[in-house]
Amino acid sequence: MFRITFAACFAIVALAIVSAEELYSDIHDDIDVMGILQNPAVRKTYYDCFMDLGPCVTEDAKFFKAHFPDAVASHCRRCTVKQREHFDTVAVWYTENEPEEWKTLIAKGIADAHGGKIISTLSTMLRITFLVGFAVAVLGMIAAEELYPDKYDDVNATEILQNDRLRNQYYKCFIGSGPCITADAVFFKGFFPEAVLTKCRKCTEKQKKTLDILVDWYAKNQPEQWNALVAKFLEDVQKNKN
Ligand SMILES: *[C@@H]1O[C@H](CO)[C@@H](O)[C@H](O)[C@H]1NC(C)=O
Repeated sequence: MFRITFAACFAIVALAIVSAEELYSDIHDDIDVMGILQNPAVRKTYYDCFMDLGPCVTEDAKFFKAHFPDAVASHCRRCTVKQREHFDTVAVWYTENEPEEWKTLIAKGIADAHGGKIISTLSTMLRITFLVGFAVAVLGMIAAEELYPDKYDDVNATEILQNDRLRNQYYKCFIGSGPCITADAVFFKGFFPEAVLTKCRKCTEKQKKTLDILVDWYAKNQPEQWNALVAKFLEDVQKNKN
């Protein structure tokens, strides 16, 4: 299912960056998420509430609706442990049962977060990592569990990131605005979009670490560039699907 450890890595990065921020209230943490999901009528009430298609009947619906955009946009950075679990439960359930509705919910959350000006420069990056996490739902499950080849696992991402010329060369290759000059760039370009969009589902341990380094570096230094790259990947994937 989801690579929880990898999600945890992202969460740790996110938490390290914004550890000072306070969490959402845990007042509704005891909500029976699975009970709601498994009852079509109740689930629809929540869905309609979140989508502005109907009234928010209960206090917890109002509460979660109010925080949903920020939670989506910020990779749940202010969620309690329980709220993260709830979010995972919902994401997994929708992934398996109503992927299109989930896609719509996430899109609405992102749009509302934008509209509400919740997004800071910093959380732009977090928003993208979060979106990527749930792009798994959009993409569906990858049946084959085999890993990517480890042929270029020894490439030192830190070294490349610290070298402006090299970094830009790779970036242009990945985003398609320049040639892929080295064999490893060609190799990574072939797997990179899927790896990013599936939370590195088929990555070796080394490749996961490398992606973590990339995400971390871009979050701190060039969030907009990463944003653009991921947007490009999403676009390409959607084109291939249609
Ligand atoms: C990668 O390069 C950086 C910077 O040159 C260096 O500090 C680090 O030790 C290298 N990592 C590995 C695993 O070789």
